[in-house]
Amino acid sequence: MVKSVAQYQEMINDYLAHHLHDDVDESTLFSSMNYSLMAGGKRLRPALTLAVVEMTGGVITADCLQAACALELLHTYSLIHDDLPAMDNDNLRRGKATNHVRFGAGMATLAGDGLLTLAFQWVSDNGLPSAVRAELTRQLSLAAGPSGMVAGQARDILGEQRNLDLPALRYLHRQKTGALLQYAVKAGGILTRQSEPVIEQLARFGAQYGLAFQIYDDILDVTASAAQLGKATHKDAGEHKNTYPGLLGLTGAQEQLAATVAAARQTQQRLSQMTGHSFDGFSQFLAYFKISSNVEEKH
Ligand code: IPE
Ligand code: IPE
Ligand code: MG
Ligand code: MG
Ligand code: MG
Repeated sequence: MVKSVAQYQEMINDYLAHHLHDDVDESTLFSSMNYSLMAGGKRLRPALTLAVVEMTGGVITADCLQAACALELLHTYSLIHDDLPAMDNDNLRRGKATNHVRFGAGMATLAGDGLLTLAFQWVSDNGLPSAVRAELTRQLSLAAGPSGMVAGQARDILGEQRNLDLPALRYLHRQKTGALLQYAVKAGGILTRQSEPVIEQLARFGAQYGLAFQIYDDILDVTASAAQLGKATHKDAGEHKNTYPGLLGLTGAQEQLAATVAAARQTQQRLSQMTGHSFDGFSQFLAYFKISSNVEEKH
């Protein structure tokens, strides 16, 4: 039985609140890591992993929860480093002062380093079968490192000097944000040892969800307030970021979002047909995207 996103959030928050201190040996470093980790993220990435575990007939054990929460450590590192003065130079994250504002750039860099490294400890040092741990480790490194998220972040800052066309921008978004969300979905299938064709469709759904997520993040930068998001908005254009609204206008960006979400729904259906399991649990994650109704009618 698939739980609500709110129920997964609660399990994840509880796990993180009780386990980070086991593995951090210096008190200021712990405070800095814990500050950003517990500042109130949506927890969508580990929640996706846990939902896939349950949709594919698995049970959420403590080992499985630890492996899922590893991704939240890694995602939080990516946010701390993304906000640094030398990157996006942001002062507000998850409704609080950014890590470098609170602890200084040196400690913020180390908090990020600590969260990144601890993520690999949590996926590899647990009671799961060794083949599962090895595959999670391999896939997480591919998604997070220089073939995935880090390459996307490099393209993002290099892109401040030039205008990308749509294929290049789509590729950037698939890497900087899509790769981790794709891993989140795939990891659920790895944990319940799904066949290669099922993992392939999970990866497809994850990539579509991840692309939609960054298109929507670009849209929210234009349409939402800092109070709503807990981070600064109306910033991307001034920083010369390549974004969907910047390239296509707000309506064009909303159309791309609607098309990408429609494609993800098709993959959701294909997964149900292939496996005989219900993948309706993905619908609550897709409901995160508020698509304006005049755009939605076309899809
Ligand atoms: C923000 O991710 C960074 C992007 C990839 C756009 P989230 O919107 O998932 O941030 P939190 O975890 O809820 O703070
Ligand atoms: C960040 O993209 C994606 C990451 C890999 C952290 P953004 O720079 O647009 O994310 P926000 O808007 O600061 O959350
Ligand atoms: Mg950025
Ligand atoms: Mg940013
Ligand atoms: Mg953004």
